[in-house]
Amino acid sequence: MLSLNLYELRKAKGITQSHLAEILGVSFQTISKWETGAAMPDVKYIIEIARFFEVSTDQVLGLKPIESEYYSRRTEGAQYWDNKLSYIYSSRVDLWNTDYMEFLIKQVWKLQKAADILDFGCGNGYLAEIMMPLMPKGSTYTGIDISRTMIEDGKSRFREKEFKTTFECRDGYEYGAKGKYDVVVCQAFLRELSDPKKMLKNMLAALKPGGLIICIEVNRELDNAGIYIDGLDYASILATDLQRTYWKTEYEKRDRDYAIGMRLPFLLKSLGVRDIEVRLQDKVKFANPDESVNYHKLQTAYLKEKGWEADDTESEELARKTLMNRGLTKEEAQQVIHIWSQEKEKIREGKAFLKTTGFVITFGWKGAENQ
Ligand SMILES: C[S@@+](CC[C@H](N)C(=O)[O-])C[C@H]1O[C@@H](n2cnc3c(N)ncnc32)[C@H](O)[C@@H]1O
Repeated sequence: MLSLNLYELRKAKGITQSHLAEILGVSFQTISKWETGAAMPDVKYIIEIARFFEVSTDQVLGLKPIESEYYSRRTEGAQYWDNKLSYIYSSRVDLWNTDYMEFLIKQVWKLQKAADILDFGCGNGYLAEIMMPLMPKGSTYTGIDISRTMIEDGKSRFREKEFKTTFECRDGYEYGAKGKYDVVVCQAFLRELSDPKKMLKNMLAALKPGGLIICIEVNRELDNAGIYIDGLDYASILATDLQRTYWKTEYEKRDRDYAIGMRLPFLLKSLGVRDIEVRLQDKVKFANPDESVNYHKLQTAYLKEKGWEADDTESEELARKTLMNRGLTKEEAQQVIHIWSQEKEKIREGKAFLKTTGFVITFGWKGAENQ
């Protein structure tokens, strides 16, 4: 069924139902029925409405989004992240298999001697938690992040640990350390940035000659394909075609890049990094309600990560607006929201589910061109 954009057009222009009714020569109850979908206007009214609001009939009919100025969610700023500590805690439950990190450190990166590690966009130090216990004795960890909340939390979490950590509240774009570190790493960081290449140059500058750069970043297509929930049809959960419009717009607006995981090898190559290799992170969470303790932990984490703990029509409305602002039609946005609410319902009911991370790990060594 079609869902008119009439309410949105009216609100954008700041006119009442009665005013519009007067212009079209109908009652305000009729306008209300058109807006709620209880009735559909005749073709002649659709044309008149399109003329009045100076949009196409497709836009009136909700087949195309109403163009409004793009708004960024500014995920590269401190303001956004200062409120996201609970999101970080809930999304970092069971995120890595420690044995896979150990395999990377020992067998792939061959970090056999004490090393100084620098983590860009470190959050509250998740990578320190999983890497440092596996590193040779004497290794150090420095984390930098633009959010003071993250940095303060990092400091207090690692105060008592046996390995040495330093946390600094800094904007990575302005970080000026030169040739100081053996390893520079980041996780889920470059995807948030308007200029990841500029950041990568800074990360490389901080490395000693021949040092190792490691970027653990998402590719959302993999992430999306790696979700399955018992009781739902896999094909209908995906919604990738619809979300692709959203990801593409955010990328084109230099807001966020959810395909950065795929682009990184090429970016590093263009910056003269040598011996580039790419791996996939191997964690697949299988949440099985028969194992109640682990299930409960994963279920809570899933609901918290998605912001689905409470029923919240306001955030649903915001999600719909954001999807439409990124180019989805009202119907498409509605479809995505419907899929999300189905997922929410099933997870709350306690159904089994499977979830991958979609992390691509790209690494290489600082080449002569970057010295
Ligand atoms: C998704 S979180 C990832 C945190 C951490 N790497 C992890 O995996 O848990 C992204 C982090 O990047 C930080 N950030 C965003 N823009 C930044 C910038 N320009 N300089 C430094 N940190 C930044 C945010 O404050 C946030 O903590």
